[in-house]
Amino acid sequence: MMIPQVARRAIEANRGTAKVGLDPFCGSGSVLLEFKLAGLSSYGVDINPLATLVSRVKNTPIAPEVLEQEWLRLGRRIGEIALSRDFDVPQFFNIDYWFKPEVILKLAAIRTAIDEVVDPITRNFFLVCFSETVRKSSNTRGGEFKLYRISEEKLADYNPDAFEIMSAIVKRNIAAMDETYSFCKKNKTGNVEVILDDVTTTKSLASKSIDFLVTSPPYGDSKTTVAYGQFSRLSLQWLGFPQEVVMRLDQSMLGGRPAPSLDFEFSSPSLESAVTKIAEKDELRAREVLSFFIDFHKASEKFDAVLKKKSGVCLVVGNRTVKEIKIPMDEIMVDLFEDFGFEHKQTIVRQIPLKRMPRRNSPTNVKGNTVSTMTEENIVILSR
Ligand SMILES: C[S@@+](CC[C@H](N)C(=O)[O-])C[C@H]1O[C@@H](n2cnc3c(N)ncnc32)[C@H](O)[C@@H]1O
Repeated sequence: MMIPQVARRAIEANRGTAKVGLDPFCGSGSVLLEFKLAGLSSYGVDINPLATLVSRVKNTPIAPEVLEQEWLRLGRRIGEIALSRDFDVPQFFNIDYWFKPEVILKLAAIRTAIDEVVDPITRNFFLVCFSETVRKSSNTRGGEFKLYRISEEKLADYNPDAFEIMSAIVKRNIAAMDETYSFCKKNKTGNVEVILDDVTTTKSLASKSIDFLVTSPPYGDSKTTVAYGQFSRLSLQWLGFPQEVVMRLDQSMLGGRPAPSLDFEFSSPSLESAVTKIAEKDELRAREVLSFFIDFHKASEKFDAVLKKKSGVCLVVGNRTVKEIKIPMDEIMVDLFEDFGFEHKQTIVRQIPLKRMPRRNSPTNVKGNTVSTMTEENIVILSR
């Protein structure tokens, strides 16, 4: 994701007279919040219902006193429900594999109590806290982009307390909300509208309505990069989203399926060169990589349609390596946007502090077979 400081700086330095912003891959809504705090109204789009839920909550200020009071009441209610066992346990595939029996009962009690919250805005705030509680109390290993179960030996001594985890998350999120709420009370801030949709086909954005696009796009190729759908699966299942939506999420994202061939119909010498070199080593991997860019090109046709004639773009991308061949995402993005009349202004390279990233990852998903991950990101600025 784009860290708030980068988004803030990018917006401050490049907004010009922009009034309306867009993050077409809004994830958890950090960029949208920066638009809001800077006084721009904005739209966020994401295909993942968990992302849109988090984005909405992050950008809907609620008075901290309201949340604190509601949490006092909810805490008592969760206790009552847990004691009476008056809750339903969701039935989804492998729930016992991913959660210990005690955790399942506590999560079910929390979920039932949250469902009783009458105000939908407050309820969503607690659902977001719950979704993180699910992840943190599950049997998944921390610090991973994908779902891996804790080893059998470690599992024996692993006894997370879902109540304590939820309580700590609620306190932290109320404090964060307090900051947003106080700022919004004192300053003129922008409206945020969050859209759950595939950005390549969405009809929810008006033509020529956007001044400034800021995003950190996905990378596609979810087998070897961030599998957003897989990462959010357990939370989505506990939140009650249909199994077919949850299980198909990664496939429905940009680059979710390999391209049928190595052909593509736009001009990008940088992409052509990378794909040709990868194909010499592994044709399927080349089609998996290419698929993301074909989909991104479709998305940029949409960007072209919704961005005003005079508009700006800021993208934060890393250059990853496939089969030891570097994919220059920053250059390819410039090629793609030049197709729609944008001019490249500058690319700023920023070192990513290593504690934010696992320094090595496993590109083949084979244990022990690792390469170093990206340690810098490129902030690409364009305008037309
Ligand atoms: C890197 S994250 C975005 C993070 C966010 N832009 C930020 O900087 O904090 C990429 C997001 O793209 C979303 N995504 C992937 N394919 C999409 C599509 N076709 N339409 C809309 N969103 C999509 C994923 O669900 C994921 O949340």
